[in-house]
Amino acid sequence: MSERIAPIEQQARAAIVAAQTTQELEAARVRYLGRKAELPNLLRQVAELPAAERAATGKAANEARQRLEQAIEQRMAELAGRELDERLAADRVDVTLPADPLPAIGSLHLLTATWREIEDVFIGLGFNVADGPAVETVYYNFDALNHEITHPARGLTDTFYVSDTVLLRTHTSPVQIRAMERQPPPIYIIVPGRVFRPDSDATHTPQFHQVEGLAVDTDVTLGDLRGTLLTFARGIFGEEREVRLRPHFFPFTEPSVEVDVSCFNCTQGVTADGRRCPLCKGEAWIEILGAGMVDPNVLGHVREYGYDPELVQGFAFGMGIERIAMLKHGVPDLRLLYDNDIRFLEQFG
Ligand code: PHE
Repeated sequence: MSERIAPIEQQARAAIVAAQTTQELEAARVRYLGRKAELPNLLRQVAELPAAERAATGKAANEARQRLEQAIEQRMAELAGRELDERLAADRVDVTLPADPLPAIGSLHLLTATWREIEDVFIGLGFNVADGPAVETVYYNFDALNHEITHPARGLTDTFYVSDTVLLRTHTSPVQIRAMERQPPPIYIIVPGRVFRPDSDATHTPQFHQVEGLAVDTDVTLGDLRGTLLTFARGIFGEEREVRLRPHFFPFTEPSVEVDVSCFNCTQGVTADGRRCPLCKGEAWIEILGAGMVDPNVLGHVREYGYDPELVQGFAFGMGIERIAMLKHGVPDLRLLYDNDIRFLEQFG
């Protein structure tokens, strides 16, 4: 019987060495050392051998089994290590690495970009950004802003009324009053936001955007207004710009002005190739906003919040964001800003 041990061991060793995966090795273990395998069978039969052979054969078979078990353990460790290395290499995710930046999808809408550009200029001058409701009362939208009861802006053709006393705000100016009710002077704010008027053509949409400005302090002059707007005009339209103030009328400012910026498309109304400038229509100036010194009657509505018209004075201005964006980028039709045509949107941002 003992002569059968060596060949079995040899075969088993060959199988162990040949195994390339832990699974194959496990199969070899079952085949050579499992319950029905030859060597264990042989060991069980040792008891039946004549006493003289029993000890030597038993010892040889046992030693062979131990050597094979050892060889399997060793090979198992080798294969398991290799498999782990392979898995680690294949599944390599280093969670400590910074994430890949998201691919840039889309860009800021021209209106959003312009809104932020305007904010940046005024924040740089020390203004804070304030906010107010889009659905407004007649009191804040007109009464407190010194509109005569007969003022045409109150009319049904110029407004979206929700009820007799509530409407969609027609300008951002009501936030002047709301802001002054919230804090005593000095106040330096801009108010970007949505406004509503029932107009619809190439330069008007029923919803559009304005930026209001309000500064109230002691010793605020029209010169401060001019300097502020000159800085704004240069920040948005280029360092070469000049501004011009023309007399105008608004119910809530006195005096009131319309503000023009020098045209950035021509010199003195004439283009480089000698034509009448299409942007300023040959005027050399482009109207960009309305402004003025805050009317004392307006301050009178917030006197109890610390705004005594005898002690403080201020300036205010209001501009359309769409208009600024269109002028700066040569957008021919306001409605392009709202059509969401990707071919238009992709040209900005
Ligand atoms: N609210 C005015 C408008 O919508 C603009 C404006 C604001 C004028 C502040 C003067 C002062 O036309």
